[in-house]
Amino acid sequence: MTYIFANWKMYLTHKEGLALARKLQTVSIPDDVTLGVFPNMITTAAVKELLEDTAIQVGAQNLAWTPAGAYTGAVSAFIAKEIGLSYALVGHSERRYIFAETNTVVRKKIEACFDSGITPVVCIGETTKDLEEGNREYRIKKQIMKALEGLSVKDNQLIIAYEPVWAIGTGKQCAPQDVIEMHTLIRKEIKSYTDAEVPLLYGGSVDAQNVVSYIKLDCVDGVLVGGASTHYDSLISLLGAVQESR
Ligand code: 13P
Repeated sequence: MTYIFANWKMYLTHKEGLALARKLQTVSIPDDVTLGVFPNMITTAAVKELLEDTAIQVGAQNLAWTPAGAYTGAVSAFIAKEIGLSYALVGHSERRYIFAETNTVVRKKIEACFDSGITPVVCIGETTKDLEEGNREYRIKKQIMKALEGLSVKDNQLIIAYEPVWAIGTGKQCAPQDVIEMHTLIRKEIKSYTDAEVPLLYGGSVDAQNVVSYIKLDCVDGVLVGGASTHYDSLISLLGAVQESR
């Protein structure tokens, strides 16, 4: 299975998100591709309804770690499940570094997803500072440890997305050889906590031009795409490139 996950971030307005979802209604998706879209929280339920009769999955960009109660501004994994969402991004670097989400919070959100049957897509990745200070491996290992240590995981119950922060929205591509090295390290770390099947994605400046260089790698189960997934033409080109590469 190849995962193509479209993180629309806060790039699209509500109306733009609905318009893009409507255009996607007629897109055919190969059986071995899982296409998932992650609209903003306001738009998610309506996009889910629009894509109800398609193979396209809909996920949340973020969820609260608590199931219900007096949590102003929060949306729980249970609510996400209730409207039929399948996935949730957890610990995206924009949540970690702009909204101060810690590894502890990320872990609680993973558990909340498990409790309600949502598949968390746990994002990990080093910053430019980590890279410059030689802390790349340390950062990755720590994020994986905090996410997985002592956690009981079933096959495909959790997905990990390696997204080097310096490659996100910058056009600075992580070279495929670099992705191979990091994914090898990440798989080894995952293996030290669980024998379960954990799909591993790559994200960071992925577009129609470079997507094949990532998905053709044996160690890459799919991609998490930001900017290039927010316009119909660029998303369709990306999907077309994936299909042609088969
Ligand atoms: P870009 O594809 O815009 O670099 O964003 C990647 C990302 O953060 C996906 O979650």
